[in-house]
Amino acid sequence: MRTLWQPGDSSVADYGQSIYSDLRFWKEDVEGSIAHARMLGATGILGNEEAGRIIDGLEQILAEGPEELPNDVEDIHAAVEFRLHELIGEVAGKLHTARSRNDQVATDAKLYLRRRLDRLAQDIKGLQAVLLAIGTEHRKTAMPGYTHFQLAQPLTLGFHYLAHFWALQRCGRRFEHAGEFLLTCPLGSAALAGTRFPIDREMTARELGFDSPAPNALDATSDRSWALDIAHATVQLDIQLSKIANELVLWSSTEFGFVLLGDPYTTGSSIMPQKRNPDVAELVRGRSSQSIGDYVAMAALVGDLPLGYHRDYQDDKPPLFAMLSRTGRLLHLISGMLGSANWNATAMKFRAAQGFSCVTELADRLAERGIPFREAHHLVADVVRASAPKGEPTTAAMRSVLGDRLTDREIKELITALSPATIISNRQSAGSTGTRAYAAQLRRAKKLHAQPGFAQIA
Ligand code: ARG
Repeated sequence: MRTLWQPGDSSVADYGQSIYSDLRFWKEDVEGSIAHARMLGATGILGNEEAGRIIDGLEQILAEGPEELPNDVEDIHAAVEFRLHELIGEVAGKLHTARSRNDQVATDAKLYLRRRLDRLAQDIKGLQAVLLAIGTEHRKTAMPGYTHFQLAQPLTLGFHYLAHFWALQRCGRRFEHAGEFLLTCPLGSAALAGTRFPIDREMTARELGFDSPAPNALDATSDRSWALDIAHATVQLDIQLSKIANELVLWSSTEFGFVLLGDPYTTGSSIMPQKRNPDVAELVRGRSSQSIGDYVAMAALVGDLPLGYHRDYQDDKPPLFAMLSRTGRLLHLISGMLGSANWNATAMKFRAAQGFSCVTELADRLAERGIPFREAHHLVADVVRASAPKGEPTTAAMRSVLGDRLTDREIKELITALSPATIISNRQSAGSTGTRAYAAQLRRAKKLHAQPGFAQIA
């Protein structure tokens, strides 16, 4: 293996090789070098002719693509420099004036991640679009809502999926926050303490689309907190996707029967002919845990290191890149799964009325008539006890508990008002599943979704 500083000992050199993972940001490495070479020319550190030859060579490397780069080298910086030497000869050796691989690698990674996060944002928006489509189509589809995973109150399927929409909005926002730390440019920090050459860091920062040069060379070459922030945002996203997947596993079971997943997302069993296993949802659920492992590995990696570059840092990139690939894949799979799901509105509506999940409404209605809510709650609990095991309040139970306060007619009216559809349509509070409140929420979500980025949510 060829190295930039001495002939490598092949028995150990490949241990430190990062070329294969570095190839992800080969382009950013070359672009960073072009900006650096332009600056070296503009400041007179290199002659115009020399700088021009270096820039032409680097542009040729950009045009050739990564296939022409050698891979018997330590890392991408070496690969580009060796290729440049093949193309333009000795003058290639002047490119590394006033910089180090330490500022280079941090610059490359930040540049790459800025672009990568843009693509990820599009993928998050893509899944949100699927959620909004369900939210629109199923604005009135009743389903049971759960707390403690016990039947609680009826709501709509659209409302349920809008809850995930907002969670994804926060996930998108989290990546935007992480992205803000990618806006200072390490280039020109050199190895750790800057350089004696009169470089123009403003110029390179601007050319590469950064807001400004990083203010402290030692910090700029030592800091990996931005990588950890992105990893953390990824873990949060994957946890969210795992929750969505887990619901699909449960809801596609015979016990729930709420959803039939599309064929590409289910598999048969080698022994049980009737099976439609939700393998893809299960794998999404399981794979997301790998991100937690990667995050912990990265945190441990950077955790103990004193200021100054350490080779340990090289190993933050493979787990981070793996996380980003994984989460992109998970987003697509969940989008596809939800897009192809067939919802069983009858099963959901039936279940929404069961398990006394309508009786909060009964307590509310008694409270509206002036009975203190606490007392109403006790009365309804008595109704529930007296109606068990029916699963819904019976007229007889209502009469025996509430007979001295309500007429038969009032009891009858109350019982008819306890259908999931009536309960749902009458919820008034902002942010509720109620028809009007929900329509407002859906409008707001669609408006935010149409805007670029993930606007702050109040
Ligand atoms: N391949 C190295 C990395 O990814 C580049 C920086 C090497 N610097 C050094 N002082 N050995 O971190």
